[in-house]
Parts: sequence; structure tokens; C-alpha cells
Amino acid sequence: MSTLDLFEGLHTPTQAMEPLAQQACVLRGFALPFVEAVLPALAHICEVAPFRHMVTPGGFSMSVALTNCGHLGWTSDRSGYRYSPIDPTSGQPWPELPSAFLALATAAAKAAGFPDFVPDACLINQYQPGSRMSLHQDKDEHDYTWPIISVSLGIPATFLFGGHHRADKPQRVPLFHGDVVVWGGKDRLRYHGVAPIKEALHSVMGAQRINFTFRKAG
Ligand code: SIN
Ligand code: FE2
Repeated sequence: MSTLDLFEGLHTPTQAMEPLAQQACVLRGFALPFVEAVLPALAHICEVAPFRHMVTPGGFSMSVALTNCGHLGWTSDRSGYRYSPIDPTSGQPWPELPSAFLALATAAAKAAGFPDFVPDACLINQYQPGSRMSLHQDKDEHDYTWPIISVSLGIPATFLFGGHHRADKPQRVPLFHGDVVVWGGKDRLRYHGVAPIKEALHSVMGAQRINFTFRKAG
């Protein structure tokens, strides 16, 4: 029996699903049954590929620290944003996508109506109080037919879910430990971001928010 099979059936069909748009939703608490398996795998990734503050092409250091796992990792430097199979800090491939991560991503995608989604990249963001992410589109991936699966752990955040133009007023969506947001199809290129994180303490994660975004990048 594979790890994927073990996770099968952990979810109640009564899962709370909140629509954000036609092909975007919040799956409240969806990640909770996976957390116990995900956290040790995350700790391993952080040893091999520690969180770092990347520099944007404009020369600013991001307030969010990040790392990656999976075949491809998202990176930024003065010359631009790109996906790379190599961690620029270590010169080594990014850590593999752990089976618990894969199980979570594929189950969430399926629950949100994207049954064939298999990620090849997982960007891991670490937010401290005060960290924020300004409105942007995820458009460095090769094929926009695949959704983005975003998992929140730790202290709360206000997710900003906008429209197809930067100036469109975003919905403000409170996100808590274990929540998953999925956006795909006609909503795949909506602008989104995270409001400055407020001081808080989470019993398991401490004073931080961790976000995974699973993508099919290549
Ligand atoms: C992202 O857009 O990459 C991160 C979203 C989040 O942290 O919720
Ligand atoms: Fe994003």
C-alpha cells in the first residue's frame, strides 16, 4: 500500500467549501489531517534548503522568506523570476516533493474539481509578523490550465483575492491553520496577495505562518 493510499479516505465529504469565484474556493481545514505527516517532511526540507529572503528584479529584499521542494523551484534575483531545478544557494537540486505533500496537494485539487493535477513544484513561504506579499499573478508556470493549490499553516493571514486587473478591488479572505485555497481555470490568473501578518502565536507553528503553493510549473 502506498502512502497515497493511506491518506485516501481521511476526508469527510462534509468538508466546508467556500466559493471565491467560479473556479476558485477555500477548503476550510482541509490540510488538518495531513499536518502530522507534513511537518517532519517540512523540517527535513528546511535543513537541506533553508528559508532565505530573495531579492526582486527591482532590487528589494522580499519580506517573506522562501524555499522550495519538488523538481522545480521558484527563484528570484536581480535578473528576474524563474523556475530552476537547482537551489541557487546550495548548487544542488531542490529536495524531493515528500509523499505527504503530494497526497495533500492531489486530494485538495480533486476536492476542488481538478482531479488530474500532479504538482512538480512546491514553493514554501515563511511569513513573520509584518511580512506581506503584494498583489501579483502567478504566471511563471508553463501551462495555465493547471490550478494553484495554496496551503496555510500557523498564524492567521488575510488573503487578498483580486480580479484580472491589478486595480480590481480584492476580496479579503481570512485564512487559518489547515485552510487550503485553490484557484484554476478561468480564475487561474487572478491577482492575489497577503496583507501584513499580525502578531500572533500558534500552538504548533509558533509565531509564523507557513504557506505552500503547489504548482505544475514545467
Ligand atoms: C503566493 O501567492 O505565492 C502566496 C500566497 C499565500 O501566502 O497565501
Ligand atoms: Fe502567488
